[in-house]
Amino acid sequence: MSSPRLKLSQPQLHQLNQLVELDRLCLGGLWTPAGYKRELDSPNSSFLVLFLESTQSIIGCGCFWAILEEAHITLLMIHPDYQRQGLGQLLLYGLLKEAVNRHLERATLEVRASNQSALSLYEKFGFQQAGRRKGYYQPTGEDALILWRGDLQRPQFKEQLSDWGPSISDRLNQYDWQLN
Ligand SMILES: CC(C)(COP(=O)(O)OP(=O)(O)OC[C@H]1O[C@@H](n2cnc3c(N)ncnc32)[C@H](O)[C@@H]1OP(=O)(O)O)[C@@H](O)C(=O)NCCC(=O)NCCS
Repeated sequence: MSSPRLKLSQPQLHQLNQLVELDRLCLGGLWTPAGYKRELDSPNSSFLVLFLESTQSIIGCGCFWAILEEAHITLLMIHPDYQRQGLGQLLLYGLLKEAVNRHLERATLEVRASNQSALSLYEKFGFQQAGRRKGYYQPTGEDALILWRGDLQRPQFKEQLSDWGPSISDRLNQYDWQLN
């Protein structure tokens, strides 16, 4: 059997419902259809999806807002059936490359203090904790950690991106994904 084919691309308007469903599965329903539509339309948003050709479905997405010199990462999610296969890191890598192309200097985001998977992923890409927002997430009152990754325009970071490329591809190969 041939390897399942994946495409990393920008979402289309007709995929709005799929994004909302993925959001419900991964994040418990964070954004509304109107919220996703706004991101699709906004020139300040960089929005990437992972599209699985065999099922014609979106199995992951990531987004950031470009605010002054900052890439504020607002979304990163992989469908639960496809987690731990290197797809989250592929998306984050894609977002960071896009931030570099947009001449942004830093990337930042908020994450639940208990979200070990995400914390470990961001740490792998050099994010560091820059602060904590107490009781940020309602209704539980869980704290948010503010993560930060600077120096995106430094030559060392661009070299690092090039180094990450092959190991990200290796992981995809290990799980038999074929990225188009
Ligand atoms: C966070 C998330 C995007 C990771 O996606 P993924 O495709 O499973 O991650 P990958 O397979 O690419 O893993 C990359 C790295 O992330 C970390 N990671 C991912 N899942 C992990 C887990 N269950 N436990 C510990 N570390 C984990 C590891 O550092 C891993 O590297 P390694 O495999 O070399 O150890 C995914 O778990 C998800 O969608 N979670 C729900 C939504 C969410 O919390 N988003 C983040 C909001 S800020």
